[in-house]
Amino acid sequence: MRDPVALLLTDRPDRSAQIAAALEPAVDCRVLGMDEPWTEPAPLAGIIADVDIVRSQAKETVRKLRELAVPGDAPLVLLMRNRSARSFADAKSVGADVCLAARTAPHVVAETFLAKTHPRRELIDLTITRAIGRAGRALTTLLDAARADQSLDVDAFETGVDPILTAVADGGLVRWLDIVWSFDDATYQHCMLVAGLAAALALHVGFSASDRLHLVRSALIHDIGKAKIPLKILNKPGRLDDDEMRIMRTHAALGHALLIKATGFDAQTLDVVLHHHEMLDGSGYPDGLKGDAISDRVRLITICDIYAALIERRPYRAPMGHGEALRVLHSMGGKLDRDLLAAFEQAIVKR
Ligand SMILES: [Fe+2]
Ligand SMILES: [Fe+2]
Repeated sequence: MRDPVALLLTDRPDRSAQIAAALEPAVDCRVLGMDEPWTEPAPLAGIIADVDIVRSQAKETVRKLRELAVPGDAPLVLLMRNRSARSFADAKSVGADVCLAARTAPHVVAETFLAKTHPRRELIDLTITRAIGRAGRALTTLLDAARADQSLDVDAFETGVDPILTAVADGGLVRWLDIVWSFDDATYQHCMLVAGLAAALALHVGFSASDRLHLVRSALIHDIGKAKIPLKILNKPGRLDDDEMRIMRTHAALGHALLIKATGFDAQTLDVVLHHHEMLDGSGYPDGLKGDAISDRVRLITICDIYAALIERRPYRAPMGHGEALRVLHSMGGKLDRDLLAAFEQAIVKR
C-alpha cells in the first residue's frame, strides 16, 4: 500500500512550491493544476484547494477530487480569495473542513492541514520516521558510492540534513533515539545517533540556521571513511586487536581524502571528518592536535561521537545508560572541552 499523499489543487502555481515544502517533513505533496487530471494511484491524505471557489470549474474539480477520497478521511482545506458570503456558501457546498485566507503563510497552511490529517503524536512520529528515511538514504547512498569508488553526490546528500533538525526540534531527541535504535547496521545507526545528538546540541546552544545545518551535516558524515575499512574489521563481533585498531583509525584520514576528492564539501565539514578523534591534550589521532588547534565544531562532534559510542550496543559489552555515559565523558578530564560538555549535558537532558 502506498503512503497517502497531500494533494494541492492550485490556480496559483507560484505559491505551490512553498506549501509543498512546508508539508514535506510529514507527507509527500502532489501539485495539480486546474486542467490536469489526477491519475496517481496513491490514496489521498487530504486536499488543499488554492483556487477561486466561486468559479464553477473550480467547484466541479474539487468535488470530483473529494469523491476519490474516503468520505471524512481526507479533509479539505480551502484557501479563500475573499470573504464574501458567496465564497463561504461555495466552500460549504464542496465540503471544506477549514477555510483560510489566500495570503496565509505556507507553513500555517501546512500546519492547519496536518492538524486535520494526523493526531499530534502520530504526526511527530511520522516526521521523525520520514527524516530518518531521508537522512538514511542520503547516508547510505554516500557510503555505497564511497565503497564502490564512485563519485559522491554532495547535493543529494544535502537533502538528508535539514529533516534531522526539524525532527529533533519537533519530536525531541528521545523519540529520535528510540526510532534510530530500531536499525541494524552499526555504522548507519551510529551516524544517525551522532547527527541527532548534534541537532539537539545545535538547537540548545542557539546556533544560527546555517551553523545548525553545518554541524548536523558534519555529524552525519563524520565516519564516511569507515566505508573504506575492511568489513571484517568494521563488523568484528569482538574487540579489535592492535593491528586492527591501527587500520580502523585510518578512517579519519580516509574519509577526509574521500571528501577532498569529491569536492563541494565545506572546510568545516572536512575539519570534522579528519579531526573528530583528536583530544585537547594531544592524545588523539590522526595529527595529535592540541588545544586551540582543535576547532569548537570538532570539539562538539567529538563529544557527541563518544557519547553515542558509549550508549550503543556492542557485541562485547552492554550499552551504557545515560548517566554512566556522562560519567565516562567527565572522567576524560582535559581531553574534552568542559564548557561544551556542560552544554551537551544540558542539551540532552532538556530534550
Ligand atoms: Fe570516527
Ligand atoms: Fe564516530
